[in-house]
Amino acid sequence: MGDERPRWREDFPTRWDEDHYMTRRELAKFLTLGSGLLASVNALLVFLGLTRGTPASPIRRIATADDVPPGSSVLFRYPTDDDPCILVRDSSGRIDAFSQVCTHLSCAVVHRPGDAALACPCHKGSFSARDGLPLAGPPTRRLPRILIEQRGSDLLATGIEV
Ligand code: FES
Repeated sequence: MGDERPRWREDFPTRWDEDHYMTRRELAKFLTLGSGLLASVNALLVFLGLTRGTPASPIRRIATADDVPPGSSVLFRYPTDDDPCILVRDSSGRIDAFSQVCTHLSCAVVHRPGDAALACPCHKGSFSARDGLPLAGPPTRRLPRILIEQRGSDLLATGIEV
């Protein structure tokens, strides 16, 4: 017997008493607690989102009723300046308004005077100008409706019905 230190110790001089390694049990505990913490934070965010409610829709004046004779349409922006919309008055005087963003690939739908439909020129899509439902072409979802209220002669956008 001579030197009790194996030779490999010289090549790998690890001092086990100074090494801070983690056991599998500690790792599992850490992962479980970490996952629990993340789940709790997510639940808190969901709770806050549900209890705060949605912000009230703005009320925006679009036009006067005289600006939109029967069979015509007018473009406007709602609820922000980045959201193009279209208001259509049919030949009977009924007023409907929708997002102008096609639900297929977001081209702008247009209205031709006298038409009962909103046409999307990109892929020949078509929507009813009365309820926003798709009539033809690739779109499968209806256009979001913009709620319109008439106060005096003013036409006001008051909300969105998705
Ligand atoms: S973007 Fe409107 S039909 Fe394709």
